[in-house]
Amino acid sequence: MIHNIICLVIGYFCGCISSGYFVGKFHHIDIREHGSGNAGTTNVLRVLGKLPALITFVGDLAKAVMPILVIRIFLSPDNWYLLCLYMGLGVVLGHNYPFYLGFKGGKGIAVTAAVVMSAAHPLFIPTGILIFALIVVCTRYVSLGSLVVAWYIPANTLIMHRNDKGFIHMMVISLLFTAFAYFQHRQNIVRLIHGKENKIGSKKEM
Ligand code: G3P
Repeated sequence: MIHNIICLVIGYFCGCISSGYFVGKFHHIDIREHGSGNAGTTNVLRVLGKLPALITFVGDLAKAVMPILVIRIFLSPDNWYLLCLYMGLGVVLGHNYPFYLGFKGGKGIAVTAAVVMSAAHPLFIPTGILIFALIVVCTRYVSLGSLVVAWYIPANTLIMHRNDKGFIHMMVISLLFTAFAYFQHRQNIVRLIHGKENKIGSKKEM
């Protein structure tokens, strides 16, 4: 149990490195006061453009992928998947609720994608990218793609780890990724239901 908590805490501090916030500061703005107010790739793209968004995305991927790869490659304990889940969940918490930014950060989707990339079966990567891209291209709602991809970690746990010891524990932690994604997207969900969600590339985006 103590190892799970250690991973969660290390993950939290990694997640607190808010690339969206720092990219915004580099451009002399607080990204959380612009667009949707989200310190994430979509809002950086909306407010600052493609290159800052790419830097934000890569930064958010790296802060989850690197600690998870340390667990998988250098430590490789028997319960590596559970530890990766705790580490990833910690990164999501740090990303969404960074202590030094008044607990107002991003929505955790790039980070969740990073956990899928580094801890899930490799087939989840191309299918995830394909499904996300299809949804975004067809609807132009990034949030809708995010809400679908948010199920990938529980899906991976169910498909790949259902016979492992501690499966229920893994499933509960996996579902927390989905729960936090939906909680952080609660305003997006209301806008989607009312047909008022921001469309990527639209001039009417807020
Ligand atoms: O990953 C965030 C995305 O799903 C929604 O971002 O800024 O449109 O709320 P935003």
